[in-house]
Amino acid sequence: MKHLLSVEDLSIQQSLDLLDLANEMRKTNVKEIKRLPALSGKTVANLFFEDSTRTRLSFEIAAKRLSADVVSFAAKGSSVSKGESLKDTVITLEAMGVEALIVRHSASGVAKTIADSAWSNAAVINAGDGTHEHPTQALLDALTIRNALKGSTDKSDLDGIRVLIVGDILHSRVARSNALLLRKLGATVGLCAPATLLPQTSSPLADESYLNLDEALSAKFDVVMMLRIQQERMNSAFLTGQLEYSELFGLTASRFELLPAKTLVMHPGPMNRGLEIASRVADSAQSLIKEQVTNGVALRMAVLYRLLAQEG
Ligand code: CP
Repeated sequence: MKHLLSVEDLSIQQSLDLLDLANEMRKTNVKEIKRLPALSGKTVANLFFEDSTRTRLSFEIAAKRLSADVVSFAAKGSSVSKGESLKDTVITLEAMGVEALIVRHSASGVAKTIADSAWSNAAVINAGDGTHEHPTQALLDALTIRNALKGSTDKSDLDGIRVLIVGDILHSRVARSNALLLRKLGATVGLCAPATLLPQTSSPLADESYLNLDEALSAKFDVVMMLRIQQERMNSAFLTGQLEYSELFGLTASRFELLPAKTLVMHPGPMNRGLEIASRVADSAQSLIKEQVTNGVALRMAVLYRLLAQEG
């Protein structure tokens, strides 16, 4: 595997291997000295044209824990604001000598464009491209679900697990990557959103789809994954109003009360507390949200290791 652009590039075995390797990396992450020498001498560049907290910082921590050198590029404050193109930005980083480019961009397909180009020989990791994919988020979510429901030493897939993804599916690269990966690993995936936020595609992304959250929640899902309302990608036609959205599609405290105590709640972040998820739910014992962030570091260590440490 040279690049990680989409979960569709991963076989079931490659996906499970990454989850198992991430659990090995978790053991390093609780040691006093959280460092392995695997990527010593390699340079990893974070190339972020869109804002990020979790993905950018966890890739940076992951690379450093594997002893790589890390440079972080944010479009804001760079020569992109003087009009420098994507091509020239990548060629510039290539000339400095980087082994991996971790790319986030608001346009779908940018990571693949770089990987397919002659601009750079570096491994390209898609850290979120427009509304297309966010493969490392899906892998860390699969890791979190598998560890919570099947045990971290169990090498099994997600067969028999039911996951409901709720909210702004239309604009969500997280929903798309999660639905593709979770189903590949054997889970049943349901989607729930207002009709304006459900993709109108001929090939369904999920096994079940709902326009009513209370109906969806009564269909007994093991995991309820809430999504951020991506206001930056919307116009006024998508939502009739925030209060109405919260009442109809939010995981409110009163809806949460009706869920079985074993139902787990996830959110990729950043959260709009009080809109798609109530604070009481996000901070509850049934919430895996902090665990998702912790697993993000270990999973990204596993991805960097597989792409870079084994080249030789
Ligand atoms: N989940 C996620 O991609 O978060 P960031 O935008 O903070 O990286």
